[in-house]
Amino acid sequence: MFFTLTLTTLAHIALLFQTVVGAPGPAPAPTLEPLFFGTLSVDLVNLIDGPLGGRVSAKITDGVLMNPNGTLAANIVPGTGIGNGILADDGIFLASIMFTVQFVADSSFAYISVQGVGEQFVQDLGYVHVETASSVWGDLNSHFIVGNVTFPKVGPSILNAYIVAEP
Ligand SMILES: *[C@@H]1O[C@H](CO)[C@@H](O)[C@H](O)[C@H]1NC(C)=O
Ligand SMILES: *[C@@H]1O[C@H](CO)[C@@H](O)[C@H](O)[C@H]1NC(C)=O
Repeated sequence: MFFTLTLTTLAHIALLFQTVVGAPGPAPAPTLEPLFFGTLSVDLVNLIDGPLGGRVSAKITDGVLMNPNGTLAANIVPGTGIGNGILADDGIFLASIMFTVQFVADSSFAYISVQGVGEQFVQDLGYVHVETASSVWGDLNSHFIVGNVTFPKVGPSILNAYIVAEP
């Protein structure tokens, strides 16, 4: 009995070291290219105590998105932005913001939402979703965009957005 068990255990251990045949192996990591940098002015209206922590009730009052070369790409349309993320009890920040921007290039609008995770009042990384009919910026509808939002001690939040480059 003891002998049988030992043999079975050895067989199991051997299995752990077998390479899996047919797995394709890791693909190269996506490459990110700078898309926009800018600011978001967030006005915290209320923090609602809930089962997960504090649910943010905030207004995004204004902000700008700049092109990497420093020219203005878009303005946040005042009155369109909200933040409704979660300041979790353990210090994790689950970011959730949405707002409308107007592009400078063709005066068209875009709906933008950012869902992320990070550290409360420090920084979060998230997925930036864009919906627009802009003839200039329409490509953003179908590309994966990463946002990095940081919260300086003073002044508006800082947003950096990166687009996944075509392989
Ligand atoms: C800056 O970048 C934007 C977006 O790519 C482009 O449309 C614009 O022509 C550039 N302006 C200058 C001065 O390079
Ligand atoms: C996000 O931006 C901040 C401020 O520029 C930077 O310190 C941090 O390294 C960035 N995070 C990532 C994951 O790149």
